[in-house]
Formats: sequence, structure tokens, C-alpha cells
Amino acid sequence: MASSTLSSATASQLCSRKSGMFAPSNGLAKAGIENVFVRKERVVGGMKIRCQASSIPADDSVPDMEKRKLMNLLLVGALSLPTGFMLVPYATFFAPPGAGGGSGGTVAKDALGNDVIAVEWLKNHGPGDRTLTQGLKGDPTYLVVESDRTLATYGINAVCTHLGCVVPWNAAENKFLCPCHGSQYNNQGRVVRGPAPLSLALAHCDIDDGKVVFVPWTETDFRTGEEPWWT
Ligand code: FES
Repeated sequence: MASSTLSSATASQLCSRKSGMFAPSNGLAKAGIENVFVRKERVVGGMKIRCQASSIPADDSVPDMEKRKLMNLLLVGALSLPTGFMLVPYATFFAPPGAGGGSGGTVAKDALGNDVIAVEWLKNHGPGDRTLTQGLKGDPTYLVVESDRTLATYGINAVCTHLGCVVPWNAAENKFLCPCHGSQYNNQGRVVRGPAPLSLALAHCDIDDGKVVFVPWTETDFRTGEEPWWT
């Protein structure tokens, strides 16, 4: 029995005519795709033919390329939006704490978490007042009102240098008295009685755009004449 392979066009016609199952769909035909896939061999007129086809478009173009590009753009857009939202908090987690003020410091917060406005603060806090605010790195820090009703240029960190208790201000004693183990500090935070080994830390207290701003104190401790232990 003679056996040969017909041309793809002839095979396509025969397969299509005989069974219909190998004929290209209307969609494929419109897209310029000729023939169908290799499925089986048939014997026609004493000849074995192989029904085969190619999915390669007749003119080598990619069908619906513009639609594919559009879908790709939509996919990228849909993915990038939520991805961006997730990356922002992730990135900010590793960023150093924000300045919170224009001078590289941290805006002081009152007990309610509001920014401390210098003028408003001085309306409600008289000379000699020492009231806690939230300072650098969230540490409790005293704002000091001088006798002339101005804010002192330094804030006093309230964390005891012994074991870390927050040291309350005692106006009657004119001292900071630690309730945990009895350490005492004078009205500027200098240690005057142990077991605390060191004076309370300092921070610069500036006013920026009306707000009270704490800035790290890196200079000599004016109370002791020594280098700051907290830097
Ligand atoms: S924690 Fe203040 S004296 Fe011990």
C-alpha cells in the first residue's frame, strides 16, 4: 500500500471534509491560523495521509497583540497598587525616627499626645513648674519653666539612672525623688543622693514654629562639667 504525506493544505481539506473535527474554528480562521493539529492518520484513495496543521499564523503576526498589551498593563497596574501600599510601611519600619520638627529634633507631646505649643504651655504652667512631656525616643522628659516665666533651654529626662523608674518632681522638696530606692536629684536633675550613679539625662529644649522641640544634648553637661554619659 502506497503511503505518502500530502501537502498541509490538501490534508487539511481532506481532514476537514471527512470528519470536521480537525477543521480550524472560525476564530482561528479569522485570526489567520491555517490547518489544525496532528491527530491521526487516515487512508484516502489508497494513500495514507497525516492530518496535520500548524498553529503559526499565516502572516507571522501574533493575534490580538494590542489586547494582550492592554491586559498586561492592567495586570501590572493591579499588582503594583497593593504592592506599593505594603512596601511603604515595610520601608518606613527600617527608617530612622522622624525628626518631628524643623531642627532635627522631636516635638514634645503633652499628656494627651498633642504637640506642646510654647505660648499655650506657659499660660498654664507657672515659674518653677516641672511637668512631664514625651521627649526624645518617647522618653518622659520634664519641661522646666524658669522664674521669668520662660521655658528653660534644657529638658530633663525622667528615667532614673539607677534602675529606670520614672522619677517624680517634688515641688515641696525642690527635688526629683525616686520612689523606688530613694535616689534624689536637684531641680536641674543632678544626682545628689544614690544609689543612682549618674545625673538625669538632658535634652536641648528649643522652640520651632511655636512648638517645643527636644534635640539631643551632645555637649558638656553644664551641671557637672563632664561629657554627657547618655550619648
Ligand atoms: S530606680 Fe531610682 S533609685 Fe532605684
